[in-house]
Amino acid sequence: MAKKSQATWGGRFSSGPAALMQQFSESVSFDKRLAPFDIAGSKAHSAMLAHVGLITPKERDAIHAGLDSILKEIEAGKFPWSIQLEDVHMNIEQALTARVPAAAKLHTARSRNDQVATDMRLWFKWACAEVQTRIRNAQLALLTLTQRETGVLIPGYTHLQRAQPVYLAHHLFAWMEMLDRDHARFLAVAKHANWCPLGAGAIAGTTLPIDREFTATQLGFVDEKGRPRVTQNSMDTVADRDLFLEFAAAGALFGVHVSRIAEDLILWSSAEFKFIELPDAFCTGSSLMPQKKNPDSCELLRGKSGRLVGNLSALLTMVKGLPLTYNRDLQEDKPPVFDTFDTVAVSAEVLAGTLAGLTVNPARCAAAVADPALLATDLADYLVERGVPFREAHHAVGAVVKLAEVQGKPLNQLATADVKKCHAAYADDWATVFDLKRAMAKRRGTGMPGPAQVKKQIARWTKTLAA
Ligand code: ARG
Repeated sequence: MAKKSQATWGGRFSSGPAALMQQFSESVSFDKRLAPFDIAGSKAHSAMLAHVGLITPKERDAIHAGLDSILKEIEAGKFPWSIQLEDVHMNIEQALTARVPAAAKLHTARSRNDQVATDMRLWFKWACAEVQTRIRNAQLALLTLTQRETGVLIPGYTHLQRAQPVYLAHHLFAWMEMLDRDHARFLAVAKHANWCPLGAGAIAGTTLPIDREFTATQLGFVDEKGRPRVTQNSMDTVADRDLFLEFAAAGALFGVHVSRIAEDLILWSSAEFKFIELPDAFCTGSSLMPQKKNPDSCELLRGKSGRLVGNLSALLTMVKGLPLTYNRDLQEDKPPVFDTFDTVAVSAEVLAGTLAGLTVNPARCAAAVADPALLATDLADYLVERGVPFREAHHAVGAVVKLAEVQGKPLNQLATADVKKCHAAYADDWATVFDLKRAMAKRRGTGMPGPAQVKKQIARWTKTLAA
């Protein structure tokens, strides 16, 4: 069972780890995706070591050339990852040592604790930008849909009961707002990531005369004026996992938003609604029932929100109660975060594809929105405009609704004489309220579903999404 002692930290050990322990403790199977960031970090760190005279420019250049060739091998899928070397950091350092003698100096004034924190901050900046692009693409698909279906009205729902008419575009713009907040949240996470951990060492920095600001600048951890941003407390630097939680939280909220959007789409595509037809390319059939076309992309979007919420929960649970600073528990921080990234990225793409391919059924939408009862509130507003207090108007309209029910007629088909008996403020023009065009045009305030506002929102989002 005793193995050769471990190459990077084995000095004080008389035996290497058990095979079971190697399996249990390795992270290279999932952290190898950090390789490009780890290599960028090592290049910046060695540049700094040369800058302050801890290595020679020649040694720096040899390290850089070695790292470049390793990156090429990794990208070509030819790099021999080994779980004996635990993680991405030691795999790369050992490979470099085998090629470049100066590699033995690379880990000067550095620990894997500040190294992994740096890798992840670089990764978060990259990952947030990737996610933002995909969210923007889903927003663009939404915008195209609003432009294509500008004139379509549907009922808006509360309690899943038909409430008031809205333009379909207005409903879609509600999703747009949700996705835009998600976009902004990932942007904020990227901003929070913009502090360089290198130099914190394992916990207490180093006695060597390093230049943290130099490294930070090399890696792009700079403010808007190009000034380096370095973390301000070495212990916090290696213990802090806030970004992981923020990223997972942004992902969970995105998941919940997409899940609600997916649920609307599932309902709208059912025979009961039939407002839309989902694209064949994002649906599947039944192995038994030949007629079935199932909204699987939407159901999976809804389902995958569960793992996004789960990832956040796993991370919060893992970090809670950990003593400062680094503890090996923290190696478990990466799988949930990577899974959140993968899930958010693919979900945004699938949402975009589903939105781009769906068609609207205008006849079904028109039929659903035709019930004059949806404008009962407008009739109350009509009375309010004639001086009736709203609470009284509400009752006076309720009486008319009841009358329609008793007579088995749509609200707008009642005899004016009967309506007038419900309240003295009803005049001969009471039924003009039920003209949908008029009803929509009157909803002209900011944020309302009127046609002028829809136009304004189309212009607003066209501009925002072009930026
Ligand atoms: N693979 C480790 C992780 O992801 C890197 C840091 C290891 N640090 C240590 N002191 N063992 O957490």
